[in-house]
Amino acid sequence: MSPIINVQHLVKSYAGGDRALDDVSLAIKSGEILALLGPNGAGKTTLISIICGLTTITDGAVSVGGYDVVKDYRQARSLIGLVPQELMLEPFETVLSTVSLSRGLYGCKPDQAHIESILSQLSLLDKKDALIKELSGGMKRRVLIAKALSHHPKVLFLDEPTAGVDVELRRDMWRVIKELKQQGVTIVLTTHYIEEAEEIADRVAVINSGKILLVEEKDKLMKRLGTKELQIDLHEPISVLPDNLLAFGVQTSADGMSLLYQYDVNAEKTGISSLLSALVSEGIVLKDLRTYQSSLEDIFLDLVTMESS
Ligand SMILES: Nc1ncnc2c1ncn2[C@@H]1O[C@H](COP(=O)(O)OP(=O)(O)OP(=O)(O)O)[C@@H](O)[C@H]1O
Ligand SMILES: [Mg+2]
Repeated sequence: MSPIINVQHLVKSYAGGDRALDDVSLAIKSGEILALLGPNGAGKTTLISIICGLTTITDGAVSVGGYDVVKDYRQARSLIGLVPQELMLEPFETVLSTVSLSRGLYGCKPDQAHIESILSQLSLLDKKDALIKELSGGMKRRVLIAKALSHHPKVLFLDEPTAGVDVELRRDMWRVIKELKQQGVTIVLTTHYIEEAEEIADRVAVINSGKILLVEEKDKLMKRLGTKELQIDLHEPISVLPDNLLAFGVQTSADGMSLLYQYDVNAEKTGISSLLSALVSEGIVLKDLRTYQSSLEDIFLDLVTMESS
């Protein structure tokens, strides 16, 4: 299947600045949720702004639904909804008129029923006649999503949709995003919350200093890079490790009450059973066993620090 968004060898230099994007190529599949992760200043907003036709391209090409974002700007833009990073709303407009106006700007006929269904999906229907200035920050963010959805876009960009949003609302937002995916909308979101990517993304792209470091299925990524740690709690503290345990690369915790053993989840032999028999033959009595899997956060930090070291 051809990608719905195709970014090829994209370069962006702002006047007087370094390259904000440096030879970025990225193909986004129709119907997927792609999470774009990267530290502040990595180039996430710049990439989104270029795909949305809001920022000029220095070099390279970008198409959306087969339309070039420069040459066929209007067609490309009509397929896109954008929830910007900054909250920009008219304080004295009502929710309903704000969202209706957005729809009108795309040249779509008024359709109050459609707008009310979007508001209801975002739990905003009871606020439809409220003025924007009367809303909380989280509600304003949802109005921005309603605006971005007002013209039935095929692709929705969410630039840090849950920044400064409380835990409950964040989960609510994840639900909305998953529902949109079910309706066939392709979603690209940037986030600093790794758990957000872990929770909702199909694929993860990591960007740093304008370069894409990695694009991968989230599940594969976590499997491929995932190491697990086995923690063995002991009945009695141990001060010196016997040689045949040291050979496994086992370490003791600071209080000597646990042994820590790292292994590769994908390895044919994890070494766990031989380690446990070695413990038994040393007469070490176990109290409990626990395993920990490295998270996407560990993987992300490894990548970004590897890059900058
Ligand atoms: N309008 C602009 N003029 C000049 N430089 C800019 C402009 N917008 C962004 N930059 C620079 O481009 C680089 C990438 O910025 P960008 O906003 O794309 O990062 P980001 O990944 O979205 O960061 P954040 O997580 O903080 O939102 C930064 O070095 C930034 O200073
Ligand atoms: Mg940004």
